[in-house]
Parts: sequence; structure tokens; C-alpha cells
Amino acid sequence: MEKPALTDHEIHPLIAQRWSPRAFDSKLVETGKLAQLFEAARWASSCFNDQPWAFIIATKDDTVNYQKMLDCIVPGNVVWAQVAPVLGLIVAQKAFKHNGKPNAWGEYDAGQAAATLVLQATALNLVVHQMGGFDATKAIATFNIPETARPIAAIAIGYAGETSNLPADLQERENAPRDRYPSSSFVFTGGWGNSAPFV
Ligand SMILES: Cc1cc2nc3c(=O)[nH]c(=O)nc-3n(C[C@H](O)[C@H](O)[C@H](O)COP(=O)(O)O)c2cc1C
Repeated sequence: MEKPALTDHEIHPLIAQRWSPRAFDSKLVETGKLAQLFEAARWASSCFNDQPWAFIIATKDDTVNYQKMLDCIVPGNVVWAQVAPVLGLIVAQKAFKHNGKPNAWGEYDAGQAAATLVLQATALNLVVHQMGGFDATKAIATFNIPETARPIAAIAIGYAGETSNLPADLQERENAPRDRYPSSSFVFTGGWGNSAPFV
């Protein structure tokens, strides 16, 4: 299902097209396409070019790791995420590589890498659904994530599936209109709360 953003100003079609469906097809993602996704993430910008992100990925054909990953995801997300052929975790390193000092932008940068991956996925006709609903403590233990890194979000990647395969309540959410606050509520000039006139 497509659910393009209804925008107030024209944006690139790729950005408008991206959304976070819960209906996945079980078809595996070609390994070449997976490589492209992480190549895109690799080229995200980051503070000091530290590239403080890591992705832990489990594909459905790797049944043991896939199940381990699914076990880290909260039940409300498992309902739909279990169909996705690729699951993963986005992890941020806590300290800069060049001097070992705390990196205040590590999670920001990991988010940028994830956003870049998501747009590349959209360009490849894949869909991505990111999740805060996962058990970080379990993920750390399951995948030996060191103290020096923090898992930020889980991610489901695959091809779009049929909405009709979702439970009724999720079908309703899937069909609900997408909404956003107006740009004037978050683009300021001159001081906090003063909406910029150009939005
Ligand atoms: C960091 C992050 C965490 C999220 N956590 C969840 C989640 O646990 N479960 C879920 O169904 N959707 C989750 N989402 C998806 C958001 O609900 C979704 O991006 C938002 O409603 C906007 O919809 P759109 O992505 O389709 O534009 C998450 C998205 C992000 C970026």
C-alpha cells in the first residue's frame, strides 16, 4: 500500500513516498539490495566523521539469529514485525574513536545513518519500520553489545505486504491518514516560538 505524504510544499517524491507500514511481505530481500542499504548508511554524515553507528542484522533464512532478534522486540511489535524478512538493531557508539571522549552526537549520527538507509530502501521499493519498542537490556545480552555502545532502535525491512493480512486493529492504523504538525510549529526565527514567515 502506498501512503504518500500530503505536503504543504513540494518535496522530493522519495521523501513523500517513505512511510512506516506494518504490512510486510515475507519475500526475502536480495543480498545485493541489503548491501546497498548499508552502503547508503555508510555515507551518512557524522560529527568528526566518527561514523558511530552499528547495525546488527538478522535475516529470516538465518532462523536462529532471526528468532533471537524477534525475542528482543516487544509483543505489540512482534505481531507484525515477525513477517518482515529482515530485522535489526541500530546501535550508537558512546565515545569518539579519535580521543575516547563522550560523543554527544553519537545517537544523532546513528539516526542520520538510519534515515539515509530508509531513503535508500524507499528508492529500492523496500519498506522500513523503525521501532523504539524493543528490550534494550535483552538486546545487549543477546548480541554481546559492549558497554561502549547503546542500542537505539530496532528496525524491520522488507517488501510491502497486503494490509488485509494484518489483525483488524492494525489494519485500521495502517489505513489511518498520516499527519504532521505544521512547519510553523517548529521552524522559528529570532527566538523560540516565533514562527519563520517562509514556512
Ligand atoms: C525511533 C522510532 C521509534 C519507533 N517506534 C515504533 C514502535 O515501537 N512501534 C511502531 O509500530 N512504530 C514505531 N515507530 C514508527 C512511528 O510510529 C512512525 O514513524 C510515525 O508514526 C510516523 O509515521 P511514518 O513513518 O509512516 O511517516 C517508530 C519510529 C521511530 C523513528
